[in-house]
Parts: sequence; C-alpha cells; structure tokens
Amino acid sequence: MTSFTPVYPVVWQDDRVLLIDQTRLPAEYSVVEIRLCADMVTAIKTMIVRGAPAIGVAAAYGIYLGAREISLTDRAEFLEALEQVSQSLAATRPTAVNLFWAINRIMKVARATSGSIEQIQAKVLEEAHAIAAEDLHTCQEIGRHGLSVLPTTPQKLRLLTHCNAGALATAGYGTALGVVRSAWAEERLERVYADETRPRLQGAKLTTWECVQEGIPVTLITDSMAAHCMKLGTIDVVVVGADRIAANGDAANKIGTYSLALCAKAHNIPFYVAAPVSTIDFELAEGSQIPIEERDPSEIHTMGSTRICPLGVEFYNPSFDVTPAELIAGIITEHGVFTPAELKEKTQPFQHL
Ligand code: MRU
Repeated sequence: MTSFTPVYPVVWQDDRVLLIDQTRLPAEYSVVEIRLCADMVTAIKTMIVRGAPAIGVAAAYGIYLGAREISLTDRAEFLEALEQVSQSLAATRPTAVNLFWAINRIMKVARATSGSIEQIQAKVLEEAHAIAAEDLHTCQEIGRHGLSVLPTTPQKLRLLTHCNAGALATAGYGTALGVVRSAWAEERLERVYADETRPRLQGAKLTTWECVQEGIPVTLITDSMAAHCMKLGTIDVVVVGADRIAANGDAANKIGTYSLALCAKAHNIPFYVAAPVSTIDFELAEGSQIPIEERDPSEIHTMGSTRICPLGVEFYNPSFDVTPAELIAGIITEHGVFTPAELKEKTQPFQHL
C-alpha cells in the first residue's frame, strides 16, 4: 500500500504564507506567496485556498500579516486596527464556521496578551501555528475514528465522497479524505467514487488529484450519476465533509450533498459526515440558521470560456446546502463518532474558544 504523501495547502515559511493555488490544479501545481493581509483576503475569496478548516488556518495567518502591517504604537489603537483586519478576513466567505472560529480564537489571544505590540504580534503568529498544527492532528484522529464505523462488509469498501474534504481543504490529511486515507492504509478500501461537484468541480479537480497522488483507486462520476451507482450496488458508504454543523446535527456542505444523503437513505447506504469539532456551531440550534453563500452566476453559465445557456436566463448559485440530521448516520470527529442527537453533549466540552 502507498503511504501518506503529505499535501499542505497553507504553510508558513520564513516571513510569508505559501498557498497551493487550488484554482490551477490539477493542470498545474503552483504555489502563491502571500505577504499582505489584503492578498490573503483575495486568496480566500477567489478560492486559491478553500475548504472549511483550510480557510480558518489561512485567516489565522492573515491576521498576523495584518498585525505586521499596523504601525500604531498605542495598544488600544493597535487592537482596534487589528479588529478591522479580522473583519476584512471574516467578510470573505460566510458559510464555513471554521473561518470565524479561527478568527475569534486569534483575536481572543491578541486581546489577552499584555506587553508590547511586538509581543502581541508574536502571540498571534504562535496561535496561528497552533491552529495549523492542531488541525493536522485533528484530521488524523478523524481518519482513525472513521475506521471504527465503516461497514465491515464487503471487506474492501467502495466509498463515495462529494466536493473535496481532503488535505487541500484542511491543514493536511483531510476529514472525509482522512477517513479514506486511513481506510486505504488499513487495506479496507477498494476505491473512491468522486462526485465531480458542479459548478466548481472540486471533486473532479482536487479529490481525484489527491487520490492519484497516493495511488488510491478513484472513479470520477458526475453528480447526477450517484443515485444510479447506488442502485447498481457499487457504493457501500458515503463520507463527506462539512462547512458548518448546527447544534442539532444538521450539516451544511457543498451544494449537492443533501441530494446525495437522500439517495443514500433511499438505498439504505450509511451516510457519514466527517468534521472537526471546530466545524460545529453550537450557537445555531438548527441548519436553517446557517448562512448559505451565493457565488457569481458565471460559475454556472460558463464552462471554461464557453457560455452554455442563452442570454436572458436568470441564475441561482448557492454554494452549499444543508443535510438534515435524520439523514446522517454519524458525525466523525477527532473525539469519536456521534449521532446527531448526542453531538452537542459529547463534543461541546472540547470546543476551544
Ligand atoms: O467551496 P469550498 O470548496 O470551500 O467548499 C468546501 C466543502 O464544501 C468541503 O466539503 C468542506 O469545506 C469540508 S473541508 C474538510
């Protein structure tokens, strides 16, 4: 079996952040150097970096970059300016709660640090490093716990996933693809089925790329083929990531996840969500309260450089949907696997805030 090949989408090096440019994969592997907070804001908005935990890590480093740019010497004024920095990062993408979780965590440390401006800046960078390191470990734990709930028959599973909840979407290793990596290492996996994930094609472009990097067999299907594959009996389990999970277990993830869950239910196939506790928003009682990002219509009216519909058409392009808790067999976290009903009680004590 092939061993884990590290993919790190957000890396601090010397005095800057290195981002794998996810808009160019798989055609081109390139790295973008980010030195300014404004450039991090753009990188998150344009999805050079994407995926809930990854944008949290990126924003954490973005606050440090912003802190470095502030020349004020008065502590109160400095913290006020840092607040503005954090708000510019928070305004990038609305759905993934990890973004706000990481920003809140960094700002809390900044406010709690006494001493000089330099000391506050140093603490902010230290906390960003901690968030990145913790996320990597968290994903490995998600992978480990996921093994305990994967069906035991057949011996080697055919696992369907949606979008990209892989190393590229986290600090490394991945959530849903963390489970894939663990299952592959334990020889429990026959192959991954990857939904292409219209409109931005994270499944086709990124999930297949990660699988190919590691020699994990992967079959690409379009989103509309999933139900057919389930009916034919070629899918044993579905594992997806999440961008925000409400306290009752309703889970927002990439658009198309909800229909996948409905299809899985209809075919009696277990449907799991793999996510860190930082993806759970305990302040929201249910999924209908999760803000859903709407992205530019160009994502759906144009393919490559070709417009695929006539002028005069109207568009609706929600980037996420919410899967109701009753369709979810379990939520695979770094602290174990929980049903939606037990999620709040079992995981809230672990949330770092
Ligand atoms: O719009 P994206 O590409 O940022 O959406 C990503 C997803 O929906 C992922 O499934 C989710 O963030 C989980 S990543 C571990």
